[in-house]
Amino acid sequence: MRFDILTLFPQMITPFFEESILGRAIKNKAVSIKVHDIRAVAEDRHRSVDDRPYGGGVGMVLRVDVIDRALRKVTSDKGQGTKKLRQRIILLTPQGERFTQEVAERLANDYERLILIAGHYEGFDERIRTLVDEEISLGDFVLTGGELPALTLVDAISRLVPGVLEKGAAHTDSFTLRNEKRERLLEYPHYTFPREYNGMKVPDILVSGDHAKIEAWRLEQAKERTENRERRTEKKN
Ligand SMILES: C[S@@+](CC[C@H](N)C(=O)[O-])C[C@H]1O[C@@H](n2cnc3c(N)ncnc32)[C@H](O)[C@@H]1O
Repeated sequence: MRFDILTLFPQMITPFFEESILGRAIKNKAVSIKVHDIRAVAEDRHRSVDDRPYGGGVGMVLRVDVIDRALRKVTSDKGQGTKKLRQRIILLTPQGERFTQEVAERLANDYERLILIAGHYEGFDERIRTLVDEEISLGDFVLTGGELPALTLVDAISRLVPGVLEKGAAHTDSFTLRNEKRERLLEYPHYTFPREYNGMKVPDILVSGDHAKIEAWRLEQAKERTENRERRTEKKN
């Protein structure tokens, strides 16, 4: 999977990919990540990429001509080899479709290249919407910029790319694990050494050695936690 991230703040993004699982995935070439400074396509001597909104109001708005140029530049680079990659251009905005595990799976399965546009300040010129394939939101809150959403998408999608995690490692994760009706569940609880801590004991079943019973217990626990969370959320609404 190849990711291209368009941002005004490349330095906020790059260090995240140097460590841990993603760092290894890049070294192993399971994923590649290119960060593009939107200012690189600015044409005036002030390198301006945004301007004040027509009609008045506070904040700066990213210009459509700048983003159009940045996208043309990025998409003209087809990457290594001659094969055209199945690609998707995604605008990160609180007004987009809510990002979920299901969306991460769709993007990981259907595309080989994702181009992510991170906004900043007041947001985007409305016409930028016509340049993208879809809009994604991290949730119903407003961040200062699209950099964290971009990092979040790259992280969640990369874990689903073959070769990034140990085989099967993600199968029991929250929102991947399913019940008999194929509904998504939270993951069951985990325990490790020590067997007892401050009076809290590891459930006996987990040290019984009976794998069938352990699997059944885990599924029950997963269902219970999922239902509890649904009840808590319903109560709040
Ligand atoms: C301060 S926000 C602009 C919010 C915009 N004025 C609005 O009310 O819809 C600046 C940028 O941060 C990013 N952003 C902020 N919150 C986000 C979220 N929940 N999901 C995805 N991107 C977000 C977007 O790229 C956005 O253009």
